[in-house]
Amino acid sequence: MKSQLLTVVALSPLAAYALPQHHRKCGSKPTVVTTGDPLSDITSFTTVPVESLPKKTYTTDYETPITTETPITTITTPLAYSDVTTFSVVPLESLTYQTYQDGYVDTIVTTGLRLTEVTSFTVVPVESIPTTSTFLTFTITPTETPTPASSSSAASYVVGGAYAKATAVSYKVPATEQCGNDDRLTLPGQPWTVANSMYNADQMVGKQCTNFDSILETVDGVKEVKWTSITNIKKVEDTVAVCKGYTNIGIGKNLNKKLKDIKSIPAYFKWDRTNTTEFRGSNLFDFITAPTEGDFKSTATSEFMLWVRIWGGQVPIGYSRGPVATFDMFGASWKLYEGQNPASGVTVRSMLVDENYDGVFQGDLKEWLDAMADKGYISSNDYVTVGNAGTEVFYGNAVMKATVALDIN
Ligand SMILES: *[C@@H]1O[C@H](CO)[C@@H](O)[C@H](O)[C@H]1NC(C)=O
Repeated sequence: MKSQLLTVVALSPLAAYALPQHHRKCGSKPTVVTTGDPLSDITSFTTVPVESLPKKTYTTDYETPITTETPITTITTPLAYSDVTTFSVVPLESLTYQTYQDGYVDTIVTTGLRLTEVTSFTVVPVESIPTTSTFLTFTITPTETPTPASSSSAASYVVGGAYAKATAVSYKVPATEQCGNDDRLTLPGQPWTVANSMYNADQMVGKQCTNFDSILETVDGVKEVKWTSITNIKKVEDTVAVCKGYTNIGIGKNLNKKLKDIKSIPAYFKWDRTNTTEFRGSNLFDFITAPTEGDFKSTATSEFMLWVRIWGGQVPIGYSRGPVATFDMFGASWKLYEGQNPASGVTVRSMLVDENYDGVFQGDLKEWLDAMADKGYISSNDYVTVGNAGTEVFYGNAVMKATVALDIN
């Protein structure tokens, strides 16, 4: 999908009303309905990832007064974008027939082809869809053609040596294996929780473990948590683009401070991943901010991700629209992608490094969140309510030995 005209059909969450079914075996050519507001009049819009829709054939009628004797199919509200970080879309060209019957549009929509099989496609802004209709099409040309961060060209960035010289100290919690789909271990006396959060485990064939190994300490007295993430997830064609979950270290201390009152967010993330099959996933920091203390999930929150290493071509929410801003920080150049979670309305902003970090990232993440405030995305009066470092996993067999130090001061 390089620099072509991109076209996607988004299924409107607004079409979540019950619709009578009229299955037909049509031999005629599809008729494309193109109405609604021009894209230039709509500054932001949402699309629906195919992966979030139930695997059904949708049958919809337009302004239908027709009988409801047949079974009713409802288009359900999709998953949150944050739960479907990478997704394919429904290309218009792949949809089945749309025909007119007695003056009414009778549309039958299937799940469609994979994006890679369609060179050009159109996007539908949800906001432009009248509640009486189901599909509208627009053609957009991304302002910049995004290219996935390459997994082969890793950059070398300068990292201070202190973190790397840490050694194990005795600690009351022994090494702990966690392979349950929602397992977490809070480390007493340390600011961290070790979490195996496989929120899409129902779409996962295989197993993911997030194991606590030990606590390390540098000569300066800085603590680190050593952990291992073991992924054995089968690549299943239907769910290649579904993020199965997040294997991570979460901050459990000094949350709910105002950004302006935070002095620093020192972060260190070292990893060594060995994969024995094709692996798809990304190492990233994930933070949530909110105008209200303790809020980590209302529509008033903002989610920020800092992607430091990508494997297997994973892309963030809003990727198809191209970057909305670029930044220089932590000795690297970054591109910011923005997208909204259509179900919750939460905006997710993902900052992707142009060249992958090669095994270690170190930096004060306050610099990043301050840059987000400087851009006006959030206020410096907003609270930091969540902070994590870890891997979003899609599939593959891999072992990642990692060390994280992440604090809010
Ligand atoms: C590891 O994963 C990468 C990214 O998916 C892939 O290119 C590479 O071939 C994989 N290595 C092995 C040994 O399968």
